[in-house]
Amino acid sequence: MDVQQWERLKQEIVRFMMTYKFAVEELRTKIEILRQEFHYIHDHNPIEQITCRVKSPESILQKARRKGVPLSLPAIRENIRDIAGVRIICAFVSDIYRVSEMLQKQSDLHIAECKDYIQNPKPNGYRSLHLIVQLPVFMSDHTEKVWAEIQIRTIAMDFWASLEHKLNYKYNYQIPEPLLNELRAAAESIAALDAKMEKINRQANHFKATLQTDDALQELWLNNQRYHLPKEFLSMLLNLDNSRE
Ligand code: GTP
Ligand code: MG
Repeated sequence: MDVQQWERLKQEIVRFMMTYKFAVEELRTKIEILRQEFHYIHDHNPIEQITCRVKSPESILQKARRKGVPLSLPAIRENIRDIAGVRIICAFVSDIYRVSEMLQKQSDLHIAECKDYIQNPKPNGYRSLHLIVQLPVFMSDHTEKVWAEIQIRTIAMDFWASLEHKLNYKYNYQIPEPLLNELRAAAESIAALDAKMEKINRQANHFKATLQTDDALQELWLNNQRYHLPKEFLSMLLNLDNSRE
């Protein structure tokens, strides 16, 4: 290979990696907009945290070899679909599905796959919702369709996955059996905790709604009889009374 060919190859690889960086930035912006708009309209924040990463060239090559993908840019582009990765951390399981639905409605996001490891956890206990998506990235001279992986999980699921990941690293993917059992048990506790937190949150929202309606009512005694009237209605009546004078 001569110097010119090297230069061309280098440029191609840089462009290849750049498309993933742009895809991740586009996704981050999309999700950030959802987060802010949802927070504004519903007075509730379904997204706690967004993290993004682009796989390093070294890990891309490793995965291509592991999966038997030919070492060419077009083959890698088509077959390795998690080079661009976005992780969304939610407080509650219901928020995960809410965020997923909002993303699925976006017309420029093609959702190729939805892997629900919450309904169907992996045997080791792993839970998360994964969306494999394709999005257009508009470059100066063409539009590139880029694959990306969006992982959506609760804070507790993320806590578990990061510990499990660390242990895999430490034991080179040969975690001792007793630890595997402990991890599986921890994953069950986490699922129970997530369910409990969801229930408390639902009750708190219900309580808040009741308080708000109570607050909006005014007690009124008429002929020894107690009435609860909406404050707005009452002030309207009083104003009517004033206007008569
Ligand atoms: P990969 O070749 O690892 O990408 O697997 P896949 O293409 O079959 O997809 P899968 O949905 O199994 O996993 C995609 C990604 O989810 C992984 O790269 C991890 O980031 C995460 N993940 C999946 N399973 C586990 C798990 O058991 N533990 C942890 N910590 N993360 C996991
Ligand atoms: Mg992966």
